[in-house]
Amino acid sequence: MAECVPSRATGMEGGIVIKDDWPGYSLELFTYPEHYREDIESVYIPHGVIMDRTERLARHIMDDIGDHDMVVLCVLKGGYKFCSDLVEFIKVQCRNSNKHLETRVEFIRLKSYLNDQSTEDLHIIGSQDLSVLRGKNVLIVEAIVDTGKTMKALLKHVEAFEPKMVKVAGLLVKRVSNVVGSLPDYVGFEIPNRFVVGYALDYNEYFRDLNHICVISEIGKVKYKI
Ligand code: HPA
Ligand code: MG
Repeated sequence: MAECVPSRATGMEGGIVIKDDWPGYSLELFTYPEHYREDIESVYIPHGVIMDRTERLARHIMDDIGDHDMVVLCVLKGGYKFCSDLVEFIKVQCRNSNKHLETRVEFIRLKSYLNDQSTEDLHIIGSQDLSVLRGKNVLIVEAIVDTGKTMKALLKHVEAFEPKMVKVAGLLVKRVSNVVGSLPDYVGFEIPNRFVVGYALDYNEYFRDLNHICVISEIGKVKYKI
């Protein structure tokens, strides 16, 4: 399925690299909501693998910033599953290492995709006052990063609130040729430039209720197109 190589961003470990020719697992090997049978082509990253990788990212994060209280900024809607599981693993690791770390969770909602295409602008459509970030260690938690343009704009937005430090955890980073923005400090998986759904990632709001990360089928793209 994959190998692990240094990240193009930082030279640090950049996540599990899924190669261009990885077809995913046959649907027959896993369970998934029956209503999506025709709409997905393969199971690209099984839920269990996502969880195991997230546990390891939680440890990296704890090793780096686990001595200070943290504000986790969850990027909705796609980031809600990853954020929730990541925070759970961070809490378990705190308990197991007898650390008393306060982890506060805030939310911001962005939208930049229609169908499977990126739209030009970043829309921040749900954000309360983020002045709680001032002077804090902030961990932005995002499901997927491709060109990094959205992330760059978000970082600029967050930095205006003068946090002490900002780190970014991204579950997926897409291998695209036109990287223009910022890439995450912590990466779960580096994937080819394909449209994936599930584990809270959507196609026009569908597929968020799928546990695995899957490749959408042509039938699915047409069925849920707007
Ligand atoms: N799937 C869902 N949402 C996304 C993707 C994707 O592959 N890329 C950017 N937003
Ligand atoms: Mg989306």
